[in-house]
Amino acid sequence: MKIKQLLSLGITCLSLISIAHADETELGKIMDEVNDIFKTVKKDATLDNNGKAELVRKAASLYIDSVKHLPTDIQYLYKTDADKEVAFADYKAMIGTSYSHLCLLEVAYLKNDEAAIEQAWSAIKDSKKKGHKKYIDE
Ligand code: HEM
Repeated sequence: MKIKQLLSLGITCLSLISIAHADETELGKIMDEVNDIFKTVKKDATLDNNGKAELVRKAASLYIDSVKHLPTDIQYLYKTDADKEVAFADYKAMIGTSYSHLCLLEVAYLKNDEAAIEQAWSAIKDSKKKGHKKYIDE
C-alpha cells in the first residue's frame, strides 16, 4: 500500500512539474493552447467540419503570435549573438511555414476535403516534430 501511495505521489509531482514547465513561458503557453485546441478538433465527435474549421482558425490566430517570442533554449543552443539572430529568424520562418499548414487545414475542413485534411494534419505534425527537435534542447 505504501509503495503504491509513494508511486502515485511521485506521478502527481512529475505531472505538476511538467504542467508548470509547460506554462512557464509565453511561447509555451501559446503552444499548449494550440495543442489543446487540436485535441478538441480531433476528439470532439459533436463537431462538424465547419465547427472544426472555426477552432483551427482560432488556433492559427494564437499560433502566429509564436513569432513574437524567442524560443527559451536558443540561449543554450547557440553561443554567439550572430548565431542566435540567425536561429531566431530561422525559427520564425519555420513557424510561418507551419502557420500556412494550419490555414490549409481550415480550408480543407471548409471544403470537406478529406485528403487535404489528412495532408494538412500530417504537415502540421511534421513541422512540430522538426521545430521541437531543432529549438528545444533535450
Ligand atoms: C502546430 C504545431 C505545434 C504544436 C501543436 C506545438 C505544441 C507545443 C507544446 C504542447 C509545447 C510544450 C509547451 C511546454 O511544455 O513548454 C511546445 C513547446 C515549444 N514549441 Fe511547439 N508546437 C508546434 C510547432 C512548433 C514549431 C514549428 C516550432 C519551431 C519552429 C515549435 C517550437 C517550440 C518551442 C521552442 C517550445 C518550447 C517553449 C519555449 O521555448 O519557451 N513548436 N510546443
